[in-house]
Amino acid sequence: MAIWLTYNASRSMPILDERALEFLSHSPEQTRRLGVRLGELIQSGDLLCLSGDLGSGKTTLAQGIARGWGSLDPVTSPTFILINEYHRADSATLYHFDAFRLSGVAEAEALGWYDLLDGAGPVIIEWPERIAESLPEDRLWVSLRWVDEMRRGLHFEARGVHYERMLQAFRQTTFGG
Ligand SMILES: Nc1ncnc2c1ncn2[C@@H]1O[C@H](COP(=O)(O)OP(=O)(O)O)[C@@H](O)[C@H]1O
Ligand SMILES: [Mg+2]
Repeated sequence: MAIWLTYNASRSMPILDERALEFLSHSPEQTRRLGVRLGELIQSGDLLCLSGDLGSGKTTLAQGIARGWGSLDPVTSPTFILINEYHRADSATLYHFDAFRLSGVAEAEALGWYDLLDGAGPVIIEWPERIAESLPEDRLWVSLRWVDEMRRGLHFEARGVHYERMLQAFRQTTFGG
């Protein structure tokens, strides 16, 4: 269950409970920086769902996440490739999946979606709602929304204890709160 909390739109002020966090980003760089903080916290097996319209900043956030995780590879939009892989010096792999063009779970399965979920690397998915039935209950869900040309609202919601801890750590490293 998502809890949408009000925030003071004049500042990038997060308002939090244990499971949810709301943030207003004022630039792509700020969104990337948030991603870096989050990426520093993710481990193998983690699932990060990035939901929002085209241009809401999902790939921009994913760029930061991959950088924070330690990717040596530049992050591009996987919209045409569907699955991007990023590698780290210790040979770990981060998967970045884009379900935008998928008709449903069967197509995702054919592309190895369940293997990605069962695999060793963390997984970022854009357009997760396209294959909602295939998603594990526990995950971090990020909803991004366009506010104006330079501003995006980001709503982080943790499902399950592991992701609640991740979100708490994220809150602490990002906002010191
Ligand atoms: N605050 C912001 N956060 C993220 N992206 C922003 C922001 N302001 C402007 N933008 C721009 O919006 C676009 C977001 O594109 P992208 O990250 O590819 O979105 P999506 O993957 O959701 O389609 C980029 O061109 C980016 O520069
Ligand atoms: Mg994208």
